[in-house]
Amino acid sequence: MLRNSRASYGTVAIALHWAIALLFFGQIALGYLMQAVADRPRLQFNLFQWHKSFGFLVLGLALARLAWSFSGTRPQPVPGMPRWEAAAARAVHFLLLALTIAVPLAGWAIASTSPLKIPSYAFDLVVVPDLPLARSDAMEAFWSQAHALLAYGAGLLALAHAGAALHHHAARRDATLTRMLGLRRR
Ligand code: HEM
Ligand code: HEM
Repeated sequence: MLRNSRASYGTVAIALHWAIALLFFGQIALGYLMQAVADRPRLQFNLFQWHKSFGFLVLGLALARLAWSFSGTRPQPVPGMPRWEAAAARAVHFLLLALTIAVPLAGWAIASTSPLKIPSYAFDLVVVPDLPLARSDAMEAFWSQAHALLAYGAGLLALAHAGAALHHHAARRDATLTRMLGLRRR
């Protein structure tokens, strides 16, 4: 089933969720790593281009997910979930959805405000134009800090979110995780 139902997620939402989750954690690791190889400028330059490319991919997938989630049904919380918990989960999902868009946008703003004017290649295929922002060292430093703060903050929130999903699976033994895996829990 492609679309969500009241009881579960459809194939499109499941595929987008896991692709974005994997890429997002990968991007945090890559972002951290590329800062650590400043003594190897050629490697660092290549890692930056991969980081930008996968970042643009996350942005595209996250916008597709936003459009998809607004165009269809939102699955109801699993039966028996307390009301406060359902409200907290909804707030966290909303924040994560927003952060998967805000983090790459802030990264794009770094490249767009940097006085170095290094073009952003997406997978060596196309040059992605810069955002229309003023270039200066101060603006680059601002967006660099905002990008790092939002990325690490989103990473921590996503870890708590994953922990909650595992808790539902292992301790509560409900269908929260299995329905996001496209499986049916007996
Ligand atoms: C899912 C998307 C992304 C995630 C999770 C992410 C995450 C990160 C992280 C964790 C760092 C290291 C921050 C630090 O330790 O100071 C970083 C750095 C960086 N990211 Fe991203 N990023 C994403 C997308 C992008 C995009 C789309 C671009 C540009 C088009 C970009 C450009 C950069 C740049 C230029 C730096 C180095 C910043 C500096 O020199 O301080 N990022 N990113
Ligand atoms: C191993 C890591 C992860 C696990 C185990 C996990 C698990 C889940 C589960 C079980 C749901 C369904 C919850 C429900 O029905 O109430 C869900 C939904 C969601 N998750 Fe994750 N997740 C992980 C990583 C991430 C990451 C990294 C992000 C974003 C940065 C994310 C964003 C979302 C969002 C926005 C939803 C709401 C449904 C949607 O729009 O796709 N998740 N997750």
